[in-house]
Amino acid sequence: MIITTCGNSVNIAKKMASKLKAKYSPLTIGAFPDGDLYLRFNHEVKGQTVVIVQSFQPHPDQSLFDVVFAAETAKDLGAKKVILVAPYLAYMRQDKRFNPGECISSRVMAKLLNHSIDKLITVDPHLHRYKSLKEVFTVPAVRLTADGLLVDYLKKNLRKVVIIGPDWESYQWAEDIAHKIGAEVTVLEKTRYNSRHVTEKMIHPIIIKGKDVAIIDDIISTGHTLCEAAKSAKKFGARNVYALGVHGLLVENAAEKLKKAGVKKVITTNCIEHGTNRIDVTPLLVEALRKEK
Ligand code: R5P
Repeated sequence: MIITTCGNSVNIAKKMASKLKAKYSPLTIGAFPDGDLYLRFNHEVKGQTVVIVQSFQPHPDQSLFDVVFAAETAKDLGAKKVILVAPYLAYMRQDKRFNPGECISSRVMAKLLNHSIDKLITVDPHLHRYKSLKEVFTVPAVRLTADGLLVDYLKKNLRKVVIIGPDWESYQWAEDIAHKIGAEVTVLEKTRYNSRHVTEKMIHPIIIKGKDVAIIDDIISTGHTLCEAAKSAKKFGARNVYALGVHGLLVENAAEKLKKAGVKKVITTNCIEHGTNRIDVTPLLVEALRKEK
């Protein structure tokens, strides 16, 4: 088995290779003067299982393009199987045509990958209107969840918290995590006006006055969702507010905005490498890959 990466997720890829006792060989990726992509494998892949470890953030478009070129090249060089491990899979949020004429990006992304890879392994993909990855992927697609790791983190570090899910989509995991740590849980009602404007309303108030609160979401992108949720928790008297996200995209100074909104600490997994990473998903990925050895 060869473990490679297109540039994102380098640390996870190295750790996975060491745990699986597999060869780690990163790709050489660059550009010709005109901007055309240049890509090269630096190790023999003929007859091997090639694992491309690549989160689709930062630079989702380039990541997708790099992965497609890498997978096609691996096959062309005689690889036995190409597995994409994408700790964060971009484009899943555009899962319908919200306005006439829009691209359903998740379908296009999946179509490109279906054509180039043999298997996908990802962590907590944004499944909202799709109930399963099977609705877009024709290749085997494994959905792992970091819920258990979040539970472990909370048990060790934030034992006595109240859990808040910032919208109904998040309530499934917020409720499950709260149940596992024996905490109270509530959900907020989110209204999204556009990518940078949301409102959050406490619809089932529980007692949070003087308590520590952990708001849990799958994705923290611009941070607006969690900023509004944090403000709402503060309004109801929360003592300390923590923001937990599986995928910390944290674009447009989100971490700074969250601080200003009263969040004491932002905690993310290393699905996307960031200074806020406190939870390591490598063991999940390694377990999923052991079956391929
Ligand atoms: C949306 O459905 C997701 O679960 C997140 O709530 C959303 O992606 C967060 O985005 P932002 O941080 O930009 O508000």
